Amino acid sequence: METISSVRGFKDILPGEVEKWRYAEEKAREIFSCFGVREIQIPILEKTELFQRGIGETTDIVEKEMYTFTDRGNESLTLRPEATASVIRAYVQHSLHAQDPVSKLFTIGPMFRRERPQKGRYRQFHQINVEFIGVGSPFMDAEIIILLMVLLRNLGIEGLQLELNSLGCPECRPAFRQTVTLFLRDRTEDLCEDCLRRRDTNPLRVFDCKVEGCRQVIAHAPQLLDFLCADCSAHFENVKEYLKIFDLPFEIKPRMVRGLDYYTRTAFEVTASSLGAQSAVAGGGRYDRLIAELGGPDIPGIGFAIGMERLVSLMPAANESFVQNPDIFIAALGDVPRLWAFALCNYLRMAGVRAEMGYDEKSLKSQMKRSDKLMCAFTLILGDREIQENKAELKDMKKGTQETIKLDNFDDIAEAIISKASGRNEEIV
Ligand code: HAM
Repeated sequence: METISSVRGFKDILPGEVEKWRYAEEKAREIFSCFGVREIQIPILEKTELFQRGIGETTDIVEKEMYTFTDRGNESLTLRPEATASVIRAYVQHSLHAQDPVSKLFTIGPMFRRERPQKGRYRQFHQINVEFIGVGSPFMDAEIIILLMVLLRNLGIEGLQLELNSLGCPECRPAFRQTVTLFLRDRTEDLCEDCLRRRDTNPLRVFDCKVEGCRQVIAHAPQLLDFLCADCSAHFENVKEYLKIFDLPFEIKPRMVRGLDYYTRTAFEVTASSLGAQSAVAGGGRYDRLIAELGGPDIPGIGFAIGMERLVSLMPAANESFVQNPDIFIAALGDVPRLWAFALCNYLRMAGVRAEMGYDEKSLKSQMKRSDKLMCAFTLILGDREIQENKAELKDMKKGTQETIKLDNFDDIAEAIISKASGRNEEIV
């Protein structure tokens, strides 16, 4: 029969790989707790209007990339292309500002964008997403960037570059917008069709265009940094100063605008040249108008998202702590020993031991091979004689030593394995 494969751009994360993902998530959770960031879980599906209003009607994401459909109730729904709009929707809907003036929230999960799939770019991808809501101070900008860099460093990722820009505010942006529109008007022949349209609807989006001709035009375009008002300028200077105190190197990218319309002031990306064309492992920025634009109070916010697929591909390959190998393999020879093995195996699991067993009639040699393959710390061999004599050999697979253990008390066996296995873990560390 013909097989069915997954949808283009949607990827399976297989055992072996998934442990790395879990490890990254666990590290993230650990670090988040130190920074006072709490988890929020939000739906994968939202009303389309949320993203149209939140991300911006004339962004690539909203114009071209959303998975939008009309459901049976005739409502337009969209698989979330990012998490920020949803987090803010939840924040406003549940009046979280009334509970605490400062909310630091994270969420981890899949996002959906119908982009052209390529290495590092998928149609379903995953993000670790963090939002700090309620504080406009540049300390918050520096803190969230420090958090991001600490997490990346903790995962053993090297060769990263932090890129910064300021996108100004509704005070200073109109003058810049006007100047850019005029600048682009003189370069009609060099712009792609999309950018000719963007020039009038949303000129900042031209800065994001990947078409070579447009990139060349943008390389000479005016820079937002030259148009910042006094407040935005002071804010940006402070952010840079605080990062320097923490010894975090960064590079100013005056033409980095990010692909979402909600940003104001600080915008940042972390790139790794080893990622190739899709070089951004994380991106974020301040969005001081978004909460009000989504019907909430006039409260500032800043956040970032890390792309999990890119993150995991940057993490060092070999790390024993990614994988939790079984503590014990029970090799059974014969029907009665197998029944014992089954009882003991499940008993041990309930006591917190990672236990595996041989389910079929197989030779001792082949069962030992399986224990080896699973990288079990110990193997217990059960045959008719062992059951009759009420004792069996416990083999330490690493040291090659053996010791006899009694079979009459499963609790004692569990205790022995747990203490031995924890000793083994310490050795690894
Ligand atoms: P973004 O730059 O669109 O920002 O995405 C953040 C990260 O998600 C990217 O740097 C990249 O690592 C990953 N990513 C994006 N698209 C794909 C894709 N098609 N395939 C694989 N990875 C991808 C945001 O999403 C903002 N919501 C970040 C934010 C949070 N800003 C403020 N708060």
